[in-house]
Amino acid sequence: MNNNSTNYFSREYIEKVRQINERLGKIPLAHVHSFGCQQNVSDGEKIKGMLAEMGYGFTPNTSDADLILFNTCAVRENAENRVFGNIGALKKLKAENKGLIIAVGGCMVQQEHIARKIRKTYPQVDIIFGTHVMGEIPHMIYDKLCENRKTLMIPDSEGVITEGFPVLRESDIKASVPIMYGCNNFCTYCIVPYVRGRERSRRPQDVIDEVRGLVENGCKEILLLGQNVNSYGKEHDFGFSKLLCELDKIEGRFKISFMTSHPKDCTFELIDTIADSRHISYHLHLPVQSGSDRILKAMNRHYDTAHYFELIDYAKKRIPSVALTTDIIVGFPGETYEDFRCTLELMKKVEYDSAYTFIYSKREGTAAASMPDPVSDEEKGKWFRELLEVQQAVSEKAYSRFVGKEIEVLCDGIGRTADGCMTGHSRHGVIVDFNGGRELIGKFVTVRVQKAMPWAVVGELVGISD
Ligand code: 5AD
Ligand code: SF4
Repeated sequence: MNNNSTNYFSREYIEKVRQINERLGKIPLAHVHSFGCQQNVSDGEKIKGMLAEMGYGFTPNTSDADLILFNTCAVRENAENRVFGNIGALKKLKAENKGLIIAVGGCMVQQEHIARKIRKTYPQVDIIFGTHVMGEIPHMIYDKLCENRKTLMIPDSEGVITEGFPVLRESDIKASVPIMYGCNNFCTYCIVPYVRGRERSRRPQDVIDEVRGLVENGCKEILLLGQNVNSYGKEHDFGFSKLLCELDKIEGRFKISFMTSHPKDCTFELIDTIADSRHISYHLHLPVQSGSDRILKAMNRHYDTAHYFELIDYAKKRIPSVALTTDIIVGFPGETYEDFRCTLELMKKVEYDSAYTFIYSKREGTAAASMPDPVSDEEKGKWFRELLEVQQAVSEKAYSRFVGKEIEVLCDGIGRTADGCMTGHSRHGVIVDFNGGRELIGKFVTVRVQKAMPWAVVGELVGISD
């Protein structure tokens, strides 16, 4: 097998495995679980696409699977511990079924010490693959099926982007579309640049064609993905705002959202593009990480809170009722309670709709891993709970701006606030629960908002617009 190849995608081996599976006389079942972020979920959809073409069906259970594949996340230690727990639990299954194939891949495994640990401690695992060799999965499965050969493939090089992967999407109405891979920013706490490699963008025309195809096939919500979408397209001389403008020209009834924006690269032009668009969500996910300039510097974020507020103020001025969301880390090495209080103040001032909040997790190999970290886990836990409380109150207040208003919602499932209610997302990305039936799923409806909750708004259906 070619260890230098990257996301090259082996159609030849898809065909070979399909032929083997056809001779089994039953459809073999695969259990695929993606941990972590949207990018991983999107990779998981490609893996499932290849498996479907190889003749696999799918099962939500590990117990009746012929192939189990974990697509792992490395961003925080607790995600890694969950994966170790899950792999450990497969030992018994493997003992009962020698033909079971177990594969573990993705970000966590891209770290050499983890790959080594899995190989040593979990002999039940047959295939270990890094983030740049997803396209080799058919070849690895073939080697296991035909020659009982185990594979460990963790090349460093991210190589080129491969187009044309088969994709098995989770939903017909919502789709994720990666526009770029990797990250160049090296925030001092973050493992992503080490496991996903340097930034590289898909060609604009490939993205535009994919989005147009999805819309033509009835998809209503498209999520553009990248670690830092604001630096999209450098190698194609085609910036993110320009890409959004092109996508906004596509005819049809659909929404476009995107994540993640980096405050250092987010431009006023981008905010103008959102404000003037037909399809783009009135939502900006702008991870601030900390409200203390001292900590932002130690995190290597390349902006200060003054610049962050400039962006927020402009977004509030230009985009009607803009939805602002963020990521925050509590307990970064050297953070004091004073620094943390600055984060609380910033949260209240911005009035985020919601925030993803994390306790700092030490990642081997990152710059922050060697910084002194004197605050105890217990103390960080207290700060974290304080942050959650403040955010709950902030969210409820922020969502109250919709009370009494009629908003358009794409219905996408069953609601949680009352029996028999439906749910969806507004153009602002806000969760909206309302009365209605399952026939509304996939339709745009109008809802009059009656009540704000800390995580959603609730209202009554006043019309169906398509
Ligand atoms: N510890 C805690 N949170 C982290 N994140 C990234 N790395 C770490 C870490 N080591 C958070 C950041 C990022 C989000 C995706 O995960 O807030 O924006
Ligand atoms: Fe990690 Fe920073 Fe890159 Fe985001 S921008 S993936 S936090 S290094």
